[in-house]
Amino acid sequence: MASVNSLASTLQQQLADALTAALPDAGTADPLLRRSDRADFQANGILALAKKLKGNPRELAAQVTAALPASDLIKDIEVSGPGFLNITLSDKSIVETLAARAADGEGRLGVPYNSAAGTTVIDYAQPNVAKEMHVGHLRSAVIGDAMVQILEFTGESVVRRHHIGDWGTQFGMLIQYLIEHPDELNHEADKGDKGDGEAAMSSLNRLYKASRVLFDSDEEFKARSRDRVVALQAGEAETLAMWQRFVDESKIYFYSVFDKLDMKISDPDIVGESGYNDMLEETCRILEETGVAVRSEGALCVFFDDVLGPDGNKVPLIVKKTNGGYGYAATDLSAIRDRVRNLKADTLLYVVDVRQSLHFKMVFETARRAGWLSGDVKAHQLAFGTILGKDGKPFKTREGVTVKLEDLLDEAVERATAVVREKAGKIGLTEDEIVENGRYVGIGAVKYADLSTSAVRDYKFDLDQMVSLHGDTSVYLQYAYARIRSILRKAGDAKPVAHPELELAPAERALGLHLDQFGEVLSEVAAGYEPHKLAAYLYQLASHYTTFYDQCHVLSDDNSPEVVENRLFLCDVTARTLHQGMALLGIRTPERL
Ligand code: ARG
Repeated sequence: MASVNSLASTLQQQLADALTAALPDAGTADPLLRRSDRADFQANGILALAKKLKGNPRELAAQVTAALPASDLIKDIEVSGPGFLNITLSDKSIVETLAARAADGEGRLGVPYNSAAGTTVIDYAQPNVAKEMHVGHLRSAVIGDAMVQILEFTGESVVRRHHIGDWGTQFGMLIQYLIEHPDELNHEADKGDKGDGEAAMSSLNRLYKASRVLFDSDEEFKARSRDRVVALQAGEAETLAMWQRFVDESKIYFYSVFDKLDMKISDPDIVGESGYNDMLEETCRILEETGVAVRSEGALCVFFDDVLGPDGNKVPLIVKKTNGGYGYAATDLSAIRDRVRNLKADTLLYVVDVRQSLHFKMVFETARRAGWLSGDVKAHQLAFGTILGKDGKPFKTREGVTVKLEDLLDEAVERATAVVREKAGKIGLTEDEIVENGRYVGIGAVKYADLSTSAVRDYKFDLDQMVSLHGDTSVYLQYAYARIRSILRKAGDAKPVAHPELELAPAERALGLHLDQFGEVLSEVAAGYEPHKLAAYLYQLASHYTTFYDQCHVLSDDNSPEVVENRLFLCDVTARTLHQGMALLGIRTPERL
């Protein structure tokens, strides 16, 4: 198991050394290496350096070239334009580097671990108890899960936190109603042909509606509900037991949705708002004592110079309400204290709707002022946009109600299954395989659509487009993978073997150079929290492969055995990279499709 330097980083290092050798006075200088259409790479850094040292850039470029070590890395280097270097790598170095990657673990592929890795606490997949999950919760789950996999792959220790909404005054009403109608929270009664998850949600919904009606129409029930909130906050045993039933019933539902999403969520990571209840008072006390928060119209508030309302007045972050209740902000501030102090986070990452950005900005700033977030700890909101319907408006059914997540996922799977079924006969898939692939393709389509656009942008939820075999979709990538696997199966006794002595065709070089970038792309994706860049990389990989496949026949009798082996080798590394990359996005790659 050894990590492999990418060709770009090896070249970068050699150029930097040559620059220093040619110009000892220049200090450490960046050759500014870029991918290029003219050659494999272009180095632009010499221009600025020559300007600084008042030298001739073309002469300097020639000196740098002369100072490069003799090696197999570079096939061709030329000075061009005002003093750029165009660099073409040798075919040998491309194949050798890929062979070193292939020799590393199956999916590890020589990708180095981040030497500065630390601990990230990631807050994602945070639905609310006794409420239906909506498409926003889908985004948080899908993006968060991908970030967890990607960060762990780069060596980060990741602690997952599902900050579910399981606390608040509405529970007074719900619990009081349940105490008065003890048989109402029973999803068996709602079962019919539904699964447990859906039935659990129906039963919660029914109870929610019934209690709301009573709350709005019956003053005495309202008063009893308010007392119930007090009992809940005081931790009164019977009340807590009832509250726990709501949480448990909701979890049955959450788990059924996460399961549909082919996503592992584990109980100990579900630490909802209630988990910070014991800290709220202290959090507010410290904020008040240190002067970070002040009393304003009876509430405990934090003010910011740059957070103003439409009237020009400052809009506060309210940590404690006039009635003494604690809100969302007090909980998030307490969670920060817990995550930094107890979980030893170096980074706090929140995968939350962009509409909560102001909240997080104020919460982070408050935590800094209070000293809970020191300079060494980074807090970042990975903000995501809204899922829109085909009409470009926030996603709703024709009747204008919020779309149920399960229905959406079921429909995606149904469509995908139809697509899979069409081709199933030709490759002899069994009915079980069709069902399984339909699920992987359908759920993959939903995840990929979400992950392939920059998170902060809104995107249109368009199932027709998502399960299309053409264009930037997960199915396209899944087919590319399955096609490669089928070639590898068909190869019979011929095995993937690297042959660095062979000359490469242009499509082979392009594919090889792209494969070599996997590690660099991942480290960029991890550092910037940008899974869409991984999706884009994989899509380009599949496109490079398609070109290679069209131009370079793999299993052809016209090829020498070495060429067959070397092409199978390229197929194998491509398949492994696709498989690993898709897995990091939470998407399966069936062997036969
Ligand atoms: N439950 C919240 C919602 O549905 C999201 C929670 C986000 N996380 C947090 N730490 N505030 O909008």
